[in-house]
Amino acid sequence: MKLDIQRTYNFNAGPSALPLSVLEKAQAELVNFRGTGMSVMELSHRSAAYEEVHNLVKSRLKELLSIPDDYEILFLQGGASLQFSMIPMNFLQSGKKASYVMTGSWSEKAFKEAKLFGEVYQAASTKEDKYRTIPKLSDLIFDQSDAYLHITSSNTIYGTQWKVFPDTENVPLIADMSSDILSRPIDVSKFALIYAGAQKNLGPSGVTVVIIRKELLEQANTNIPTMLKYSTHVNNNSLYNTPPTFGIYMLGEVLGWVQEQGGIQEIAKRNEEKAKLIYDVIDQSNGFYIGHADTDSRSLMNITFNLQSEELEKKFLSEAKKEGFVGVNGHRSIGGCRASTYNAVPYEACKSFSEFMVQFQKHNG
Ligand SMILES: Cc1ncc(COP(=O)(O)O)c(C=O)c1O
Repeated sequence: MKLDIQRTYNFNAGPSALPLSVLEKAQAELVNFRGTGMSVMELSHRSAAYEEVHNLVKSRLKELLSIPDDYEILFLQGGASLQFSMIPMNFLQSGKKASYVMTGSWSEKAFKEAKLFGEVYQAASTKEDKYRTIPKLSDLIFDQSDAYLHITSSNTIYGTQWKVFPDTENVPLIADMSSDILSRPIDVSKFALIYAGAQKNLGPSGVTVVIIRKELLEQANTNIPTMLKYSTHVNNNSLYNTPPTFGIYMLGEVLGWVQEQGGIQEIAKRNEEKAKLIYDVIDQSNGFYIGHADTDSRSLMNITFNLQSEELEKKFLSEAKKEGFVGVNGHRSIGGCRASTYNAVPYEACKSFSEFMVQFQKHNG
């Protein structure tokens, strides 16, 4: 059965748009998953049918991101937010310090949690600049003896994104990639740990992907609860307890869709084209639209901007909503406008939105 409802232009920041073909396939397989006579949600997580799904998802992710063999892939729960605690709990050893690069609200939250477990400090912060920029690599201050350096690769709320990652040498580099994983090629070997809540580029909420260098596990603290130890999940192929099986299945389908699109190179090219449509309107608006992020730090996933007054912003948001553009209001903590143009947001949606922006300026400029 085909979906017969009109699909909306979904610019939500997360949970966000999923590829239509993935939703349709999930719908078709919902009540009888590949001849099992039951839904994937009803399969035992110990069954061969589920295990095949689980392992296929891992191999797809490994292939798409070219994850080297000395890394483990985990499917955890508790969102990216639980990683804010698990990381220092496992890797902030006593007598060591951990450094955090502050580029927005999510870095602040990660930093706040780490403080509960040991000594932490800020390697750099762009807070004074209203988080408009990513700090220059040469401005990062950290020690080679640090337990790790933590960064947020794309800042969902402020709309900035790291273009080049720091070379931290002996210091394990840890990145929250919730907002841009799978949106562009990355060199996984630069990172000791990457984590991402699924609900933006990977699938529905409920699964958190963690990619971790095996060597890092050797240095982990041991006196922590079983479920919060990475080694528990590594040693049990993320099946120590019942995993979010439906979310993992959906993640696999999204990864299959990325493969069908031509892989991450092709997705990255499209993401650039999509974001350009909107940034061009901002840049050519003579100040009618004011981009929040500095040009060099702009995110290709979350495009943040303001209009000249709150009143005009309200009108813009209300008309955008009427035209069927969903989720273009900024995060509740900073207001303004934001279009999240994740992998599954079609080019046509971005084109229509950019045309709407031009028309709105014509009538209100
Ligand atoms: C960059 C980033 N990190 C962390 C989070 C928190 O993720 P979760 O809701 O999965 O805990 C978000 C949520 O939007 C995010 O955008």
